[in-house]
Amino acid sequence: MTNLLLIAMGYLLGSIPFGVILTRLFGAGDLRQIGSGNIGATNVLRTGRKGLAAATLILDGAKGAVAVMLARHFVPELGDQGAMIAGAAAMIGHCYPVWLNFRGGKGVATLLGLALALAWPIGLAFAAVWIGAVLLLRISSLGGMLGALAAPIAALALGNRVYAIGLAGLAVIVLWRHRENIARLRAGTEPRIGGKKEVV
Ligand code: G3P
Repeated sequence: MTNLLLIAMGYLLGSIPFGVILTRLFGAGDLRQIGSGNIGATNVLRTGRKGLAAATLILDGAKGAVAVMLARHFVPELGDQGAMIAGAAAMIGHCYPVWLNFRGGKGVATLLGLALALAWPIGLAFAAVWIGAVLLLRISSLGGMLGALAAPIAALALGNRVYAIGLAGLAVIVLWRHRENIARLRAGTEPRIGGKKEVV
C-alpha cells in the first residue's frame, strides 16, 4: 500500500509539465509545436527565452528531488528502496504524463534532480558528465544521455545496489525517449546548442 502511494505521489509530481506551462504562461507559444516538440528545457531554449529554459530545468529537476525527499520524510522505514521508487515514479510521470496523453519529456532534468536527492555524489557525477559533454560537444541530447549513463555507474562505485539497479533502468528509459535524437546523431543532423540548424 505504501509503495502504491509513493508511486502515485511521485507520478503526479513528475507529470507536471513545467515547460509547457511556463511557455504558455509567458507567451512563448506551444512548446509541442516548436523545435523538437519536446517539453524539456532544451526545447524551451529554442523559443529564445533563456530565463524560461532555466526555470524549466530547475523545476523539472525539483520534481525528482522533491519526490525522493517526500519518500524519505514520510516513509523513512522504506529506506533507499522507497526513495528510489518515488524518484523513478516522478521520472516516469515526466516522460509519460496523463495530462499530455502520455507524451511527455525525455527525463534528463528529472533524473538529475532525483539522482542529486538520492545521493549527491551520484548527482554530481551525472552533472559533471552532462555539463562537460554539452560544453565540449554542444549537443544537449548526447550530454543528457551520457550523464544518465554515468548515474548508475556512480551508484555502483558508491556500493549502492538499489540505486545502481534503479538508475540503470531509468537510464534505459532516457535512451528510449531519445531514440529520435539517436537517429539524428547517427545521421549527423542533431542540432547543436546555439547552432542555426532547426529540429524537424
Ligand atoms: O533533455 C532533453 C534533451 O536531451 C533533448 O531535447 O529538444 O533536443 O530533443 P531535444
